[in-house]
Amino acid sequence: MAKVSIIGAGNVGATCANAIAHMKFASEIVLLDIKEGVAEGKALDMMQTANLYQFNTKITGITNDYKATAKSDVVVITSGIPRKPGMTREELIGVNAGIVNGVVENVLKHSPKAILVIIANPMDTMTYLTLKKTGLPKNRIIGMGGILDSSRFMCYLSQALKAPASDIEGMVIGGHGDTTMIPLIRLAHYKGVPVKDLLSKKVCDKVVADTMVGGATLTKLLGTSAWYAPGAAGAVLVKSIILDEKKVFPCCVSLEGEYNQKDICIGVPAVIGKNGCEKIVKLKLDKEEQALFEKSAAAVRKTNNVLHEMNII
Ligand code: APR
Repeated sequence: MAKVSIIGAGNVGATCANAIAHMKFASEIVLLDIKEGVAEGKALDMMQTANLYQFNTKITGITNDYKATAKSDVVVITSGIPRKPGMTREELIGVNAGIVNGVVENVLKHSPKAILVIIANPMDTMTYLTLKKTGLPKNRIIGMGGILDSSRFMCYLSQALKAPASDIEGMVIGGHGDTTMIPLIRLAHYKGVPVKDLLSKKVCDKVVADTMVGGATLTKLLGTSAWYAPGAAGAVLVKSIILDEKKVFPCCVSLEGEYNQKDICIGVPAVIGKNGCEKIVKLKLDKEEQALFEKSAAAVRKTNNVLHEMNII
């Protein structure tokens, strides 16, 4: 009888709710937004597909009343605003930090034991902010970005290999940004065969480059950021928690010395189960990958520092 709440019923939040309903592992989903009627409308629309898709999940929409989210097992936080023309990066961080802080405070009042999944951007910094502000154990705060970036990586690999994405394994670690993410091409494989043995260096480089600008490519096409893959990535993460699947996903989690980093939340492979992030998997990175990871961590730290500079934490 698992209950999942999703804060922010925008494109990503609603798509995540829809994907969770289709995956049929939650008994209840609550969708909450500040915009009057939006969450209610989307929840009702989804409920009207229950017979069509044969799911029994109860989906409720609510405007700003956190009581409805009480006793959630997992809460997904997608609430935030996109960067607007003329807005600096610092201003965006300030606004979204305010939103995420307020949301998390309300969520924990009603679901003190929930595991929090952070999707709002800049995701690495919002995850770090949540960790610092709440003082919750680190296993209960997980940023989703790496699952999305890895899914994009596997999609581009499947196109290059002309093979189904479901037969490909690949992982993106590091920050969730187009200059900070690290698609680990050396470790990617197609049914056990390293993709580096199957594709030329030129093609591998292109897959990596396309993955890194995966989000930006979609924003250019859509005029706003993507939602199908982000929503689905959030849903598989929640599923691994609720069903205690112990799947290994690259997630944004707190490091305390692993990968030579501490006081940071950044993407690394982690075992995801009923307690959230149950273990950090230590990959043997080569020299070049470790150097990229250090560079990525420095960039994430720079963004985190805005929180200090603005006295948010
Ligand atoms: N409480 C609840 N909901 C809020 C709040 C708040 N304080 N502030 C904003 N929201 C809601 C908005 O009303 C909107 O419906 O969050 C929703 C955000 O939805 P979209 O604008 O459609 O954004 P979306 O594409 O879903 O992206 C959400 O995920 O991938 C990231 O970069 C993306 O940070 C963004 C987030």
